[in-house]
Amino acid sequence: MPEFPYSRLRRWPDVEADNLQAHDATDLLLVERALALDVPGSETVVIGDEYGAITLALAAAGRSGIRVHQDLATGRRALARNAEELGISEFAPHELDADLLAGARLVLLQLPKALAELEEIADAVARWAVPDVVLVAGGRVKHMSLGQNDVLGRSFAHVQAQRAERKSRLLIATEPLPVPESPPFPVSARHGDLELVAHGGAFAGARLDIGTRALLEVLDLGGPQLRRTEVTRAENERNGGDSSRSSGVVNAGRRVLDLGCGTGALAVSWALASPRDRVVATDRSAAAVASARATASANGVADRVEVTHDDAGSALAAGSFDTVLLNPPFHLGASVHTGAATRLFEAAARLLRPDGELFTVYNSSLGYRAELTRLIGPTEQLRRTPKFTVTRTVRRP
Ligand SMILES: C[S@@+](CC[C@H](N)C(=O)[O-])C[C@H]1O[C@@H](n2cnc3c(N)ncnc32)[C@H](O)[C@@H]1O
Repeated sequence: MPEFPYSRLRRWPDVEADNLQAHDATDLLLVERALALDVPGSETVVIGDEYGAITLALAAAGRSGIRVHQDLATGRRALARNAEELGISEFAPHELDADLLAGARLVLLQLPKALAELEEIADAVARWAVPDVVLVAGGRVKHMSLGQNDVLGRSFAHVQAQRAERKSRLLIATEPLPVPESPPFPVSARHGDLELVAHGGAFAGARLDIGTRALLEVLDLGGPQLRRTEVTRAENERNGGDSSRSSGVVNAGRRVLDLGCGTGALAVSWALASPRDRVVATDRSAAAVASARATASANGVADRVEVTHDDAGSALAAGSFDTVLLNPPFHLGASVHTGAATRLFEAAARLLRPDGELFTVYNSSLGYRAELTRLIGPTEQLRRTPKFTVTRTVRRP
């Protein structure tokens, strides 16, 4: 059998750089282990395949009908693009649900970073796969912890760590344990008037992140920024005008975007405070999207908050938002890399109308102000603590 051309795989549309690859040694170990087991593709499931290396190498080796779940919209697009490039179509994408796992005898998993995400996946495999399923989970040794064995041990009777190879290690879990009647996720927690709902893979879980909290405090949900919006409308109405004129949009309210919405804390808080506005929340993580939808429903604003699974709002129309809210990520995989935030700043520049506003919170050590000014427009600092900076950027016409 010819060697699979791993080097032809690309990460696009995810951030690409010389030190970032589209496959790693864990992918290779998982593929080798799967090929050594005599399980047909139709009974094989791949979870967490970052850019398609596992799925495509197995499909190229003749395993057809593999079911795949990837959390990230970027990973899904990279797999689709790499598959097209290599002329491979013998696999089926799924969400993390019963359809993904029904009848599965072999599940290959790139271990997620968060234990909560692993717990949701392990429960799903134990719940929906066949009783003699083998779960092969792999990761880079430096990112693995005994906590992962413990989490797998809550859903499987046997968890065996394999010898490390090429700085990666596999954990083999067998004999699913009886599952609780309801899955362990989503979980929820109340923060004042806001109920947050979170799936395992969502940023910060059902907690309110301190950066998010800082941004909410500065916006004050009824405080200076939003009050200013109400005043503008009231003035327009007094002047016999249609409030839509102030923003140049046909809608009576403002169009607000929560870019990288996570559990939807910003989007839903805005929708609760400003019922006339139309809010869109978007994230590249499927777990975040499911969480934000559940958060919107739990707070009674599902009809005013549209949630989309997308990379940097790529499917949204340019210039279609009056306001963008952004608490950008600054970790890319396990390494600190600012490319992920830059991508969202560029997206905000595209999505805001001229003179539209971007509110951003970031770690003060990152000093994004110059980049925000360069990419979008004049940026003022609204709050700075040793930990967080909150800024307002006005999109230059
Ligand atoms: C720091 S979290 C903030 C989540 C939420 N806005 C909050 O404040 O709690 C950043 C979020 O951005 C999302 N994200 C990162 N890169 C993205 C991209 N290219 N497109 C869409 N979402 C992205 C992550 O999945 C994550 O949910």
